[in-house]
Amino acid sequence: MSNRVVIVTGAARGLGAVVAQQFHRAGYKVALADIAFDAAQALAVELSADQSTACAIRLDVTRKEDFVEARDALISRWGHVDVLVNNAGASKVVPVMEITAEQFDQVIDINLRSVLFGCQVFGQYFASRGVGRIVNIASLAGQNGGSATGAHYAAAKGGAITLTKVFARDLAAQGVTVNAISPGPLDLPIVHESVPADKLDKVVSSIPVGRLGSADYVAQVAVLLASGDAYFANGACWDVNGGLYMR
Ligand SMILES: NC(=O)c1ccc[n+]([C@@H]2O[C@H](COP(=O)([O-])OP(=O)(O)OC[C@H]3O[C@@H](n4cnc5c(N)ncnc54)[C@H](O)[C@@H]3O)[C@@H](O)[C@H]2O)c1
Repeated sequence: MSNRVVIVTGAARGLGAVVAQQFHRAGYKVALADIAFDAAQALAVELSADQSTACAIRLDVTRKEDFVEARDALISRWGHVDVLVNNAGASKVVPVMEITAEQFDQVIDINLRSVLFGCQVFGQYFASRGVGRIVNIASLAGQNGGSATGAHYAAAKGGAITLTKVFARDLAAQGVTVNAISPGPLDLPIVHESVPADKLDKVVSSIPVGRLGSADYVAQVAVLLASGDAYFANGACWDVNGGLYMR
């Protein structure tokens, strides 16, 4: 067991839960941060019955003060934090011409403000320690404009990739790296729940490798980018999309 600590946002379910599990398996102490506190707590107890190596944190990624409180709580609990994974995200599909100001702001807040605030709060803290890793979960939609997920979501994820570069440049000299991962459609419950079966078949047949992506693999990329050896990977966007988008 290493003494490294990671905080994963949106870790109560989906990709974030898998990322939390993979970091825990890699020997990290893991903070599962989510607005869905009870679900995050249940998962934390599953990972560590006495919560010595996993805990839940109530955190709304649209609120900067929640990141500050989470950072301080983790420093009190485990002494330090080494890695932030900005994973929380959400979208509601609306045709581009019909997106209201409220819908736009909501999706930008969850997917983009979250990255700004997470990188500000933990970036400054990591810089003060002279070491740290930030991994932002973006999306293929942020690279190719998306379709199924909505224009507001695609714009937010494109912004997250850009913020990754800005913070990567800003923090590099202080030992902090910032990278993004852009997954294509993953084999997760939410994908099966939100996309009708016939549409999903079409999506799958459009993916060159012919199947949905593995959340476990995306999580392993996050663990890899968080390692000390990954210091030369900085400001990059790691494409994990089965060949749907090549550049
Ligand atoms: N599922 C995919 O195929 C896919 C593909 C590309 C990118 N992504 C990205 O991966 C990330 C996770 O997606 P997922 O499919 O697991 O989604 P999900 O909806 O299953 O899980 C999202 C989690 O984020 C939490 N959350 C939502 N709003 C929050 C807030 N304001 N503060 C804190 N937590 C909040 C939810 O409670 C939930 O636990 C997202 O950033 C998403 O855009 C997913």
